[in-house]
Amino acid sequence: MYQTLLVTIENGICVITINRPDKLNALNKTVIEELSAAIDEVNNNADVKSAIVTGAGPKAFIAGADISEFIVLNGEGGKALAKKGQDLVFNKIENSFKPIIAAVNGFALGGGCELAMACHFRVAGENAKFGQPEVNLGLIPGYGGTQRLTQLIGKGKAMELMLTGNMIDAHEAKQLGLVNYVVPAENLLDKTKELLAVINTKAPVAIKNIIALVNIASVGDADGLQKEIDAFGELFDTADAKEGASAFLEKRKPVFTGK
Ligand code: COA
Repeated sequence: MYQTLLVTIENGICVITINRPDKLNALNKTVIEELSAAIDEVNNNADVKSAIVTGAGPKAFIAGADISEFIVLNGEGGKALAKKGQDLVFNKIENSFKPIIAAVNGFALGGGCELAMACHFRVAGENAKFGQPEVNLGLIPGYGGTQRLTQLIGKGKAMELMLTGNMIDAHEAKQLGLVNYVVPAENLLDKTKELLAVINTKAPVAIKNIIALVNIASVGDADGLQKEIDAFGELFDTADAKEGASAFLEKRKPVFTGK
């Protein structure tokens, strides 16, 4: 049914697995569209009480937006990419009235870290790695990272991670409050299902209100996501962003000129 997702439903829990392991589950146009449909399915299917998002293969949750789709983008295209992703997937997950938890099984970089942060909370395998490496491409996060990372871990550490592009491991992510639990990789799905089994016994009307109200409490600048979309788009009209994506795909170090 889906080209890029595996979706199973068992005991009221829908497990959505992004299934492009050879590209480290990078988010291309098809993944974004299919994730959007899968989240609608979660909210519309009466047999589903909650959901887990995870990645296929041993290496990655999601290694970011698909950089090969960046090459053709200009400012308008970049802005449209960020806006479409935020509307169709990231905000839809955050505002889902059924809980959606990220089970982070490896690299959660760029859009992958952002997708995990859009989920209601996160459980990590010991092999998980988090980061916002867009700066290495001459870019910035465009799927909510500037806002949600700052909300989750505070300004100083969020600044450091986004300005350096450095990765942190699962234990540091837990110390920072980015993930709630770190478990051995082989127990990741069981631990996440165990937490959801508890939540699934509670009243759906209460769950729905808790999600909505905690979301209200955590928002800083209500316009922050839109400002991020605008800035993300504008960067695609720069030489540095073109150089950043080309260098990644050509497996070389970028040479930035500030233009
Ligand atoms: N977009 C497109 N393709 C990606 C990708 C992405 N975000 N991340 C990984 N891939 C592809 C690689 O190009 C490679 O494809 P190939 O086998 O056809 O050459 C494949 O996935 C495996 O990745 P590779 O880089 O060979 O694995 P690695 O173990 O050496 O490195 C990472 C893993 C995650 C450190 C590295 O892939 C990486 O830095 N990815 C990009 C992360 C990023 O900048 N994300 C933010 C995007 S805005």
